Amino acid sequence: MAKSPIHYVCQVCGSCFSKWAGKCEDCQSWNSLIEETTVDSFQKKTTEKAQKIEFSSLEDVSPPLPRLLTGIEEFDRVCGGGLVPGSVLLVGGDPGIGKSTLMLQVAAIISQKVLCAYISGEEAADQVRLRAKRLQVSSSPVHLATTTHIGDILKSLHQGPRVAVIDSIQTMYVEALDAAPGSVSQVRASAHELIRFAKKYDVTIIIVGHVTKEGLIAGPRVLEHMVDTVLYFEGERGHHFRILRSVKNRFGPTDEIGVFEMTDKGLQEVSNPSALFLPHRTEDVTGSCVFAGIEGTRPLLVEIQSLITTSSLATPRRAVVGWDSGRLSMILAVLEARCGLVCGNRDVFLNVAGGLRISEPAADLAVAASLLSSLANTSLPNDAIFFGEVGLSGEIRPISQQEARLKEAFKLGFKTAFIPKPTKPFNFPEMALIPLAHIAELANYCEAKPKSRRAYGA
Ligand code: TYD
Ligand code: MG
Repeated sequence: MAKSPIHYVCQVCGSCFSKWAGKCEDCQSWNSLIEETTVDSFQKKTTEKAQKIEFSSLEDVSPPLPRLLTGIEEFDRVCGGGLVPGSVLLVGGDPGIGKSTLMLQVAAIISQKVLCAYISGEEAADQVRLRAKRLQVSSSPVHLATTTHIGDILKSLHQGPRVAVIDSIQTMYVEALDAAPGSVSQVRASAHELIRFAKKYDVTIIIVGHVTKEGLIAGPRVLEHMVDTVLYFEGERGHHFRILRSVKNRFGPTDEIGVFEMTDKGLQEVSNPSALFLPHRTEDVTGSCVFAGIEGTRPLLVEIQSLITTSSLATPRRAVVGWDSGRLSMILAVLEARCGLVCGNRDVFLNVAGGLRISEPAADLAVAASLLSSLANTSLPNDAIFFGEVGLSGEIRPISQQEARLKEAFKLGFKTAFIPKPTKPFNFPEMALIPLAHIAELANYCEAKPKSRRAYGA
């Protein structure tokens, strides 16, 4: 009998090698290669057993099955308008962020409409029941099971659930593989079996996966290409807000977010997140300004704060929470080169208040405004919002969806907007618009303002 081939698989990045080494050549992590034996299906199934596949045209599709709405609006929107029958969703996130809680809430609501199974490989049935009691969903007809064996799960799913939650993929295993549960090959093989089943029988499967720090357990990243939809559940530790973000969706838009608040009775939807991220603003403080952003299809206002202090370190600190640190360095470099503002011997701290993470380049202008306000020791108008992309020559570039951002700001009582100088006629009479073509204009504006009474060092 042919020997099963042995691979050494990196548990951090999933790369496969024929020889063991102390360091993965691809991701450079140490001691991450683990021996795994796979049943090589290619060798076994040759073309002798193969059958001809049927080709069909693009046109003759049967009408799609209606999407299944959960009634949790934030969740439905992130999925692109409800769950698609036969699709596979991956819900990833740090351990303890609330994935199991959200999935149990979703399962409880769905089970009112269709048969829904919740399979836990991590918690005992009683633990799940306790949680259900806390979430006040004990009476919903969810089919609960605890197992870690994919074979058993697939056999049981034949009995008819239309939706199944698998919590979590890192605890599941298929018998054909020698590797331990949680290793890259087990995670991949288990997910592969589940996906095949979902497509064949039109069952929606929601796979929960922990994002892991580099270590011996494979994270959801290795599954992203296999599933239809990837949602990440994020949030800062110590904050109550949780953001469900779609990063891949074959049936809807990506970059859509749903905002939840973790309470003692589970996750509550937050339908007006701007109002939630802003209420703690204090007036007349330096280094604070409001950015009007867009997350997915929704405008979202957040406060950006910065603090610049004299550094006692040889290499001054650049600490960023909720934004890209590379981008902060870029803005600081632009301020230095184009406005002559030097921060080389100062510590710079930047924070997106509320625990949100922003990735839009449109936040550049708000970050620059916040830094300029700190540097010039002057506060920015409390009723103003900022958006615009900053280029390397200091020019402020127009961005998309300006009107949606302004409307949201107006709705929340803001009266002034610092915006990129429009290239074509643009008007929004409800607010005072201050168009900026270059970052130096903003620097001059801050310099000209009276110094803040509460400023640092005053
Ligand atoms: P959990 O859903 O178990 O996280 P995950 O499945 O992502 O690992 O969430 C656990 C955390 O949520 C835990 O720290 C307790 C908290 N929590 C609440 O604050 N309120 C609740 O109603 C529930 C069920 C959990
Ligand atoms: Mg869990």
